[in-house]
Amino acid sequence: MKGPVAIFGADGYIGWALAIHLGVTTDETIILVDNFATRRLVASVYSDSLVPIESMYERLRAYREQFGKDNLVFVPADARDIDQVDRIIAEYKPQSVVHLAQQRSAPFSMIDQEHALYTQLSNIATNLNILFSISRHVPGAHLLKMGSMGEYGTPGIEIKEGDIELDLKGRKARVMFPRNGGSWYHLSKIFDTFNVLLANKIFNIRATDVMQGVVYGTKVDEMVDDKLNTRFDFDSIWGTVINKYVVQAVILNELLIYGKGRQKRGFLSLYDSVNCLSLLLEHPPKEGEYRVVNQLDEIYDTVQLAEKVLSIAGEFGIRPKIRSIDNPRVESEDHYYAVEHKILPELGFRRKKDIDTILREMFEAVISNRHRAEKMKHLIYPTVDWKQGKNKSSKFFKIPYDLMKVQTKEEILPFATELTVHEPLTRERE
Ligand SMILES: NC(=O)c1ccc[n+]([C@@H]2O[C@H](COP(=O)([O-])OP(=O)(O)OC[C@H]3O[C@@H](n4cnc5c(N)ncnc54)[C@H](O)[C@@H]3O)[C@@H](O)[C@H]2O)c1
Repeated sequence: MKGPVAIFGADGYIGWALAIHLGVTTDETIILVDNFATRRLVASVYSDSLVPIESMYERLRAYREQFGKDNLVFVPADARDIDQVDRIIAEYKPQSVVHLAQQRSAPFSMIDQEHALYTQLSNIATNLNILFSISRHVPGAHLLKMGSMGEYGTPGIEIKEGDIELDLKGRKARVMFPRNGGSWYHLSKIFDTFNVLLANKIFNIRATDVMQGVVYGTKVDEMVDDKLNTRFDFDSIWGTVINKYVVQAVILNELLIYGKGRQKRGFLSLYDSVNCLSLLLEHPPKEGEYRVVNQLDEIYDTVQLAEKVLSIAGEFGIRPKIRSIDNPRVESEDHYYAVEHKILPELGFRRKKDIDTILREMFEAVISNRHRAEKMKHLIYPTVDWKQGKNKSSKFFKIPYDLMKVQTKEEILPFATELTVHEPLTRERE
């Protein structure tokens, strides 16, 4: 791996796990960049990480105490700002840049026009800023950009990894595999993909564009102390499906399946997400290459997943029922799904733990934080109907006013020291 490494979005679910993993397993300097948008946006829908998380300063203190290393450097910055990103890249000259600093919830982007606009403006700006700064200051650096398997949608044919050959009226062309996202969030990721590709063509940027499946789990090996925990979102807006099911099993004693539950997706654990990203950093693309990687481990439909969760719930004496509810999303509920994913196995990727083992870890984490989940129980039920998201602004959910504009370092810094940045846990929707 070429260092130093900059991780944009290092306070997040994956970013923090990756930061401590790279910190412990390498001697590189890891530059952690964040503006705490996720903490604040999760609070804006009256939710919170189910597993308590420390402030960035406490996390870094715990890291130093546990591992006796001083190679994690936190830099508060809003990646939407040209100058803040530029200063970081110019000063630290990272040779590997991981870009995770985006609004990452599809339902959040579907709340209303304001949330759609926030998502697309933020995501496209952060990506463009990083691309331009790399091209100016570290043109040979490796950009590891996090996209989403959701960019492809459910095309009804096998999703290839990289380009496909198109044959039209006898003429052949190599084109990017079609993108067909189903939310304003996924569309922002598609714009990113095209922007990375263009930057590769015109600035010769060496980039890995990761199409990642849905991530689940609470841990990586380096979380040896509760102060090193990463966030764990479970509410209907920020939670991903497996994480949500485990909380539903413990708190509701039922699992809520959207519609027929035959929607298939690719999944991987947090352990494997971090391992895959590390592998890709260790094996960068060639100079001037643009590489697309499909990052997933197993494919399940949502009923199969619910059945897996049920079988492990039984070990904890919990016997939830499966209940179908109206699907708030606009998506195909019964479809073909197959994905080519060869690059990571060829680089040496092997699953770290099977899904059953990870589900056990998740049940333990949720049961020990049951009191927090009970307080936020009402957030489990879906509140965002994708067809109703055409309003200018929602009656219930508002993006904090100051987050609608680029934040200065001085505005971000207090959030690095406060343990919580959220509204009281018990606050109900108005
Ligand atoms: N979690 C998943 O299942 C999953 C699946 C596929 C793709 N992804 C992608 O992986 C990336 C990381 O996801 P995650 O689950 O860790 O999300 P996350 O929301 O927990 O982490 C993102 C981090 O980026 C920060 N951030 C957002 N906007 C920023 C800005 N303008 N300036 C600086 N920092 C900013 C947030 O505060 C947060 O700490 C995202 O790009 C997401 O779209 C996630």
